[in-house]
Parts: sequence; structure tokens; C-alpha cells
Amino acid sequence: MKSAVILISGRGSNMQALVEAQPGLEFRAVIANRPEAKGLAWAAQRGLATRTVDHKAYPTREAFDAALAQAIDAFAPDYVLLAGFMRILTAGFIDRYPRSILNIHPSLLPCFPGLHTHARALAAGVKLHGATVHFVTPALDHGPILVQAAVPVLDGDTEEALAERVLAQEHRIYPQAARWLAEGRVEIGTGDVVRIRGSGVSRDSLIAPRDPA
Ligand code: GRF
Repeated sequence: MKSAVILISGRGSNMQALVEAQPGLEFRAVIANRPEAKGLAWAAQRGLATRTVDHKAYPTREAFDAALAQAIDAFAPDYVLLAGFMRILTAGFIDRYPRSILNIHPSLLPCFPGLHTHARALAAGVKLHGATVHFVTPALDHGPILVQAAVPVLDGDTEEALAERVLAQEHRIYPQAARWLAEGRVEIGTGDVVRIRGSGVSRDSLIAPRDPA
């Protein structure tokens, strides 16, 4: 069975969705960069190994990333899954785990990389918004896309309402991507375009908007 370590910074609802979905990956540990990350308690309660590598304890990004890599490597995972992990990682760190780090980002990339995606989507007046699971490359919120989910932006939406609608989709697509990894079906082709091997997959990898909840 392929294995993974999950990195979090806060609440950890995506981590919970991943673990609860039992996608066929062995989750070896949950590591947070903030000691107060709420998700740590949930993970510990589930019997998962937990670690904290507090970024504030390190003078540079490089020093933090080296400590983080050491914590990850102790579990020798096949994949590193960023789940609401709010630190920018150095290229040196990312290069240690080629094509092995995944991230979930709350927008339809390449639109709205970075922070405050829901407010920016509302300000831009887009009619579709969503979430993306992608491989991590040194460019922020950029990299081969495994799966996206779109949601409608509704009249009168607040940032919170839109965030909630997107989050529900995050909780569907990250476990889906993890399942594909577990099944060894993820293939990165020319131009960094991801294909999921197996029947019906191109259809599954587009989750179209449904009626809003
Ligand atoms: C999610 O929307 C994630 O995509 C974003 O921050 C939020 C974290 O939520 N980067 P959680 O910690 O997974 O609950």
C-alpha cells in the first residue's frame, strides 16, 4: 500500500476528509507548522502519529524546510499531502519530493492563486468558482492538475457562503485524488497535463456544478 504524510496548519477539515474516506493510502503521520493547529487533536484521537514543526522556531525558510523534511522523512511516505498548509515551501524542499507533493487550493487554478480566493472571486464577478488538487511545483499554487470541482457563484453570496460551498467540494475531490494515487492511476504527460488511467476517468475528473445546497 502506498503511504502519505499530511501537512496542516489549522482546522484540518481536508485532512479529516482524506482520513475518513479511507482512500487506500496508509496515513503515517500528520505534521503541523503551528502548535495550536486544531487538526492535531483530531488526528491524535484517530490514533495517527502527530508532529509539530513550528515555523516560528526557525530563522529562515530554508531552516524550517530542512526540519520539516526531517520530520517527514522519519515516516518515509510515498506522498506528502498539503491540506490547508499555509506556508510557502522552498524550491529545495519541493525538489526533494518530485511529483510527490499534492496541494488543495480553493479556486479553479490558474485563476486566483494565493490568498483570499473567495473574496477575489466575488470581486471579479466570476460565475464559476471552485477548488483544485494539483501537484506542487516551486511556482506558488501552480502545477499539474489532478482534479477540479466547480461551484456556482450566486447573487448575494458572501465570502463565507462561497467558502462553505467550495469547501464541500474540496472534501470530495481531495479523497478522490488520493484514491487515484493509491491505485497508481495518475500519469503526468507532456506539457505537465495529468491523465488518470482507467475507464470513465476523464468524466469523473470534471465535477460539474450542482444545485447549490
Ligand atoms: C481550505 O479551504 C484549503 O483549501 C485552504 O484553506 C482551507 C483549510 O481548511 N488552503 P482545512 O484546514 O482543511 O479545514
